Amino acid sequence: MTNSTTQADTAIIDTDEISTRLAKLAQTPEQFRKINTFMKRRTHMSQQVEQVLVDGSLGHIYVNSTGELGKLGDVSHITDLRALFADMSNGADAPITLEIGFGMGDSLLEMAKNSPSTNFVGIEVHEPGIGRLALLADEMGLTNLKVINGDAIALLDNLPDNHLDTVQLYFPDPWQKKRHYKRRFVTHDRMAKVVRVLTTGGKFHAATDWEHYAFWMLKVLDTMPEFSNPHGVGNFAPRPEYRPLTKFEQRGITHGHGVWDLIYIKA
Ligand SMILES: C[S@@+](CC[C@H](N)C(=O)[O-])C[C@H]1O[C@@H](n2cnc3c(N)ncnc32)[C@H](O)[C@@H]1O
Repeated sequence: MTNSTTQADTAIIDTDEISTRLAKLAQTPEQFRKINTFMKRRTHMSQQVEQVLVDGSLGHIYVNSTGELGKLGDVSHITDLRALFADMSNGADAPITLEIGFGMGDSLLEMAKNSPSTNFVGIEVHEPGIGRLALLADEMGLTNLKVINGDAIALLDNLPDNHLDTVQLYFPDPWQKKRHYKRRFVTHDRMAKVVRVLTTGGKFHAATDWEHYAFWMLKVLDTMPEFSNPHGVGNFAPRPEYRPLTKFEQRGITHGHGVWDLIYIKA
């Protein structure tokens, strides 16, 4: 290798390093200090799930495949969830529900199966759940369910005002330690993003089995003037029939754990 080649290589490496540093400096203070509500976990996936995640073959359900494993999905181009259903049997104007953090997807799959005239979109960062839900929805031939890989906060920021009929958040990470409370999905700031995308009369439905988080949510949501609590300020909601009882929840109930539902309507 000649001296000139070595210098050229060094120059390329330096340029890359400089652009990375410049990109970081260009971030707003908010982006720089970004606090995520999730922690990406690596768990085992079947080969079939891995393939679905990377090959884009289920693009009619899994709408933003990253083409590789371990990468957070890009949602910057997803600015209209209704449009995702334009060519489906329900069309773009059907009632639409967004589920944030569907985990392995069991309850979302059941809801989509039980309410065929409603369109459902689920967003997750957990790849085994994303791939599994897309596979099962395809096997069942569901045309009213779309799956997105990515951060729900970024997605909410891209959506128009008054866009969704329902936003649901079932068993969100409770972030039990005090120093982690800022990661809880239900905070005034994050819920303001939810309010904005809901239609007037639209619904936010949350459920948790963590008592501290249940009362935390009640306090946050009851003090938001944009929301009304149909069960009365200070009251939880009974579990609606349409929210499937998951195995995880059933096990908790058997062990004597409580479950709290919260339902709020955009005023
Ligand atoms: C405790 S799990 C519950 C999963 C499922 N809802 C259930 O009841 O089994 C919470 C899920 O929310 C997801 N999550 C948290 N914050 C998220 C965000 N900002 N965007 C997308 N998913 C998120 C996590 O990856 C995790 O899988």
